[in-house]
Amino acid sequence: MPLVLILVETGLELIPNQIRTHPAVKKNINNKLYSSQLLDNAIHHSAMKKLKNFEKRGRPDIAHICILNALGSPLNKSGYLDLFIHTANNKIFNIKSEIRINRNFNRFKGLMAKLLIDGEIKLSNNSSIIPFDGNLKDLTKQFSDAEILLFSSKGKLVKDYSNIFTADISKNYIVIIGGFQKGTFSNEVLKLSNNIISISKNSLDASIVVSRIITFYELIHKII
Ligand SMILES: C[S@@+](CC[C@H](N)C(=O)[O-])C[C@H]1O[C@@H](n2cnc3c(N)ncnc32)[C@H](O)[C@@H]1O
Repeated sequence: MPLVLILVETGLELIPNQIRTHPAVKKNINNKLYSSQLLDNAIHHSAMKKLKNFEKRGRPDIAHICILNALGSPLNKSGYLDLFIHTANNKIFNIKSEIRINRNFNRFKGLMAKLLIDGEIKLSNNSSIIPFDGNLKDLTKQFSDAEILLFSSKGKLVKDYSNIFTADISKNYIVIIGGFQKGTFSNEVLKLSNNIISISKNSLDASIVVSRIITFYELIHKII
């Protein structure tokens, strides 16, 4: 089975009704422009302070870099990656391996807003983003006998990457990385596994962790 990577609690959502009348939000919304419908901390910062858990929300930039890193990896190009995005509002999407994600951030925001409004992006079979109907627990249950690894700076420090994955390619792994800037995993995420791993003495950006974990997996399985 490919490596299953789930980016959890990612700050991807449409601008909530609660702040749509705030001046900082109103002046930037254009109903004809998908990208302007997405919550973005860089634009809506002052309005977002009212929102619960605001520090974890409105970060499409984090999702963008993580998705580009994951889909651009040799692992994905070899067909060994299965990528999922879980949002702060508990929506889950499977990003198919061959989809071309635009490097332009505004175009990416437009695509994500369209995804959240329409519920899916269908281009062709392997070039689509499709919803998963269920919660994170349901998703992990789809992959039989998979070992679930949570990555967090608060986990047990593993100094040697070869101790994270075994060389047996038939062993199934689900890797969980937070798609947010600050804070810790929710209880729903923490309940998924007791295996919490840290790969550095420092708290790293999610995109760095995505790249490193994929690289560790590639090295151990000689995928180049
Ligand atoms: C910017 S961090 C979130 C902040 C959080 N205080 C932390 O360090 O885990 C985004 C994600 O990157 C991963 N991460 C960050 N530092 C890590 C580390 N040293 N080891 C493993 N994963 C890490 C975690 O999955 C985290 O949820």
